[in-house]
Amino acid sequence: MKEDIQSVLYSKEQLAQKVRQLGQEISRDYAGKNPLLVSVLKGSVVFMSDLMRAIDIPCQIDFMMVSSYGSGVKTSGVVKIMKDLDTPLEGRDLIIVEDILDSGKTLYYLKGMLSDRQPKSIRIAALLDKPDRREAPVSADYCGFVVPDQFIVGYGLDYAEKYRNLPYIGVLKPEIYSE
Ligand code: IMP
Ligand code: MG
Repeated sequence: MKEDIQSVLYSKEQLAQKVRQLGQEISRDYAGKNPLLVSVLKGSVVFMSDLMRAIDIPCQIDFMMVSSYGSGVKTSGVVKIMKDLDTPLEGRDLIIVEDILDSGKTLYYLKGMLSDRQPKSIRIAALLDKPDRREAPVSADYCGFVVPDQFIVGYGLDYAEKYRNLPYIGVLKPEIYSE
């Protein structure tokens, strides 16, 4: 896998430090509450599993899966629910946990759909944000790093289901996805 990576953007240590910081912020903001962390599969699982352990107040987790990307590098604009949540959302404080906010189409759609279920509040925690590519009016309430418009992989992020298990985030060599 390593030979497909052009450069390392964020090391394991940098990621750990940032996630710890986000966990502390969330713990402070939600003190006395019991937020529900909603992980959007599959890209956010690594971030989710580290983030939840960086939160030191009670919280619950749930998962949903939507498809918008297929195996390519561009959003199709079509967001389909592949797996819905098990938890009723009425009155809950929701935190949607995403790996990366790109065009924003996925999260814009998700946020709208989950709002209809009457949660008390909804916020978005995105490890990474590519603001230059935004097409939908959505932003992260908790954001790890703002990244340039490059295709990146690792720490949950994939290209064609590969590289999710890299412990760092790196820029994929363009020849890999133009092949
Ligand atoms: P959006 O709807 O365009 O914001 O799509 C967000 C989703 O696209 C993320 O959850 C990722 O699965 C995927 N994505 C966007 N940019 C990248 C990238 O640089 N590497 C890997 N996946 C990406
Ligand atoms: Mg994703």
